[in-house]
Amino acid sequence: MKGRILTTGGAGYIGSHTTVELLKAGHSVIILDNFENSDRDRVARIPLIAGAADVRLVEGDVRDAHLVADVLKRHEIDAVMHFAGKKAVSESVADPLLYYHDNITGAVSVLSAMRDAGCKKLIFSSSATVYGDPDMLPTRETAPTSASNPYGRTKLIIEDIIDDTAVSLNGFQAISLRYFNPVGAHSSGLIGECPRGLPNNLFPYIAQAAAGVRDYVHIHGNDYETSDGTGSRDYIHIVDLARGHVAAVEHLLSTSTDHAPHRKVNLGTGQGHTVLEVLHAFSRACGFQVPYRIGPRRPGDVATSLADPSLALALFDWKPQFDLEKMCWDHWNFQKRELDKLNSGMRMPHLMHDVVADHATLNGTHPSALGNRDALN
Ligand code: NAD
Ligand code: UD1
Repeated sequence: MKGRILTTGGAGYIGSHTTVELLKAGHSVIILDNFENSDRDRVARIPLIAGAADVRLVEGDVRDAHLVADVLKRHEIDAVMHFAGKKAVSESVADPLLYYHDNITGAVSVLSAMRDAGCKKLIFSSSATVYGDPDMLPTRETAPTSASNPYGRTKLIIEDIIDDTAVSLNGFQAISLRYFNPVGAHSSGLIGECPRGLPNNLFPYIAQAAAGVRDYVHIHGNDYETSDGTGSRDYIHIVDLARGHVAAVEHLLSTSTDHAPHRKVNLGTGQGHTVLEVLHAFSRACGFQVPYRIGPRRPGDVATSLADPSLALALFDWKPQFDLEKMCWDHWNFQKRELDKLNSGMRMPHLMHDVVADHATLNGTHPSALGNRDALN
């Protein structure tokens, strides 16, 4: 069954790749984003990559429940994918109230709007961070949860809020997808991750070191109990992750009842890679050794994080396809294009005209079909 899907935060890293895969699968998509951590350029590329134009953009804030309800009703949305929120662990430690306010208010606003509009299918962006330092490796969804920072705690609290909402609303169905480590970019090189400021995560840091933006990669510790002493993670290609969302929402759209109205499901590969393995794979992708230095452990890091992805396979027939080499290759391909763009001062201005985005869309006063250049020219 094809649906009309609202992607909150659909202009972001995961939301944009998921929007592409939704369009390719024949769904129509409304993106709601306030661009606090993204830009219109990325949205403009979505219909080009997907080869489909059935995507619209509403510029606005998910914390505005009236706006969200209005979008749900006006566009007769069948399911919501809630990506919008803040995601930097260190920022959440420095300013926890900002994270509690923005992430939790955003989720409550989306849920209230869904209740008011009678929209009953939700996919929520959760995280493997909810497992803390897991005893069980690979980690199944039944493992105990805990939070080691305010960002992680917002994910746990929101999962609980969804649990309560699902009990209270007849027919409500939700899946919280617990992502492991999403990396890479679309193979076109047109969309990927562009962290603002100093990257926290390994892949963007390696990519910037390879590009010469950083002198070298700091490896945070080599005295863990792993094959080479460096931390091990379950990296997952962003396109595999995006396809996991499509499979999950199609599962929701095709089932009217489930004995578990709110499922928590891992999205990972079940394969772990150490920091040094990633660094060497990335070096192969770019054709030269990316410089690195070994330093002390990063506070709060765990030695190993590894998904048991079997529930996603059993529930909605999803399994990832891409290996570490492909993740590195696509990440580097995107990074190189970004550098070329910066060097040439190019911002693809012809594409930006395709985006119409503001509340006027809701009032019907704007042409708003992305990719429909005639609407604006
Ligand atoms: P991102 O920052 O690239 O995307 C988030 C998008 O939401 C951005 O486009 C931003 O402008 C928008 N946004 C933020 N607050 C908003 C608001 N109040 N109203 C409207 N739009 C708003 O992040 P991402 O990496 O794509 O992550 C998406 C979701 O997945 C987040 O909830 C994040 O916590 C979760 N997640 C991400 C990772 C990861 O490694 N990237 C891992 C686990 C979970
Ligand atoms: C981090 C977040 C986690 C979030 C996840 C999203 C922290 C403590 N945790 O997890 O909440 O869900 O990103 O993908 O920030 N590393 C280096 N040098 C670097 C960066 C990282 O050696 O410059 C190492 C880390 O020690 C770790 C591995 O690389 O072993 C992966 O780190 P990272 O990409 O930050 O992801 P996580 O720590 O898994």
